[in-house]
Amino acid sequence: MQDYHEFLDEILIPEEVLQKRIAELGAEISRDYQGKELLMVCILRGGVMFLTDLMRQITIPHMIDFMSVSSYGVGARRSRGQSRITLDINTDIHNMHVLLVEDIVDSGYTVKAVLELLSGREPKSLKVCALLDKVERREVDVEVDYRGFEIPDKFVFGYGLDADEYYRNLPFIGVLAAEKYNPGE
Ligand code: IMP
Ligand code: MG
Repeated sequence: MQDYHEFLDEILIPEEVLQKRIAELGAEISRDYQGKELLMVCILRGGVMFLTDLMRQITIPHMIDFMSVSSYGVGARRSRGQSRITLDINTDIHNMHVLLVEDIVDSGYTVKAVLELLSGREPKSLKVCALLDKVERREVDVEVDYRGFEIPDKFVFGYGLDADEYYRNLPFIGVLAAEKYNPGE
């Protein structure tokens, strides 16, 4: 694995802790959606590692699809109120139970934009599963139905989340070193 140490301030959530919590979420989702037509919609790109691990902990039949959302602005804290859907799902969700799978909810604008778009297509239900939740940073009201971890207001990377597009492959969640933090604003 490439050397990430200069980017890492501290490991916030080690691999074993992540995997244990994901197993719990998988069991909970499997129970809640038993006998229902479940579609998990992953928000690219950060949610991809979480989705693939979570799927393997889900014991009921389900489908997957992908969406991509871009936030205006550049740098680490991209989302500033405006989110645009750049890739839409192909699945017809009318009458399906849809679960959004997201890496992190920060201001809440990304999830809000996706919920607004998908709710107009009349799914049977629409819920949110987020691995990480920075509750303190919330600017719009969105409900997180399945939450992996509540985390402090720090820029994190690894396990799908990027530091300038790299290091998504790290198996843990780390806090970015202060000298590498560049919000680009
Ligand atoms: P929101 O729209 O502000 O809720 O932002 C959500 C998106 O911003 C996430 O899907 C991430 O792509 C990105 N993001 C927010 N916080 C972090 C972070 O600490 N590390 C990496 N990406 C982040
Ligand atoms: Mg994301």
